[in-house]
Amino acid sequence: MSKTLILLFHPDLARSRANAVLAAAALRLPEVELIDVHSLYPDGGVDAGAEADRLLSADRIVLQFPIHWYSTPPLLKAWQDAVFTRMVYVHYKTEGRLLAGKPLLVAATAGNVPEAYAPGGANRFTMAELLRPLEASAHRCGLSWQPPFLVYRADKRDELSLFSAGRDYAARLDAWGRAGEAEEDPRRYLVEAWG
Ligand SMILES: Cc1cc2nc3c(=O)[nH]c(=O)nc-3n(C[C@H](O)[C@H](O)[C@H](O)COP(=O)(O)O)c2cc1C
Repeated sequence: MSKTLILLFHPDLARSRANAVLAAAALRLPEVELIDVHSLYPDGGVDAGAEADRLLSADRIVLQFPIHWYSTPPLLKAWQDAVFTRMVYVHYKTEGRLLAGKPLLVAATAGNVPEAYAPGGANRFTMAELLRPLEASAHRCGLSWQPPFLVYRADKRDELSLFSAGRDYAARLDAWGRAGEAEEDPRRYLVEAWG
């Protein structure tokens, strides 16, 4: 079975509602492995070698986090600095090169409403614009950028609404995994060859 690796970056997971519900929903899928990155590195020092191995063992990568100040939590930036620098600049032939084509999905929660993320809205910029640095890094690493999964109004949702966001997340991951497996199935080429 192929593997979807979710790297969850939440500075205070014990108090999380939205990301906790998304994580619980995702964990019901058999192909999902979820890592609480903050629990691994409470002091912020990232083991780049271990993280590189983790990325290379996955078929699909998810970076899941709450939006903090229009950006990622600081540990995700530290993780990128350590892991992408090692893989792409220091060990390109044995590590960075092997990231080519691996799909990367950002799953982010935001406190504000979708309308705030627009040129005329309270936050002025769209979420796609704010996520551009991550998209650029993914592109530089050869990762295949997927349309992000976004949950707005994360703090104002009731249980039912969070549950439904979790269900949508799991459905998205499940469909993604199935599409990936169909692509990897060598019989696909047989059908094409004979059809
Ligand atoms: C330090 C900090 C900064 C935040 N910055 C933003 C922001 O820029 N935009 C936004 O929509 N929400 C912002 N929020 C709200 C969080 O995104 C929201 O609380 C989180 O997504 C809820 O998920 P959780 O229940 O898993 O913690 C911020 C929250 C904190 C604590």
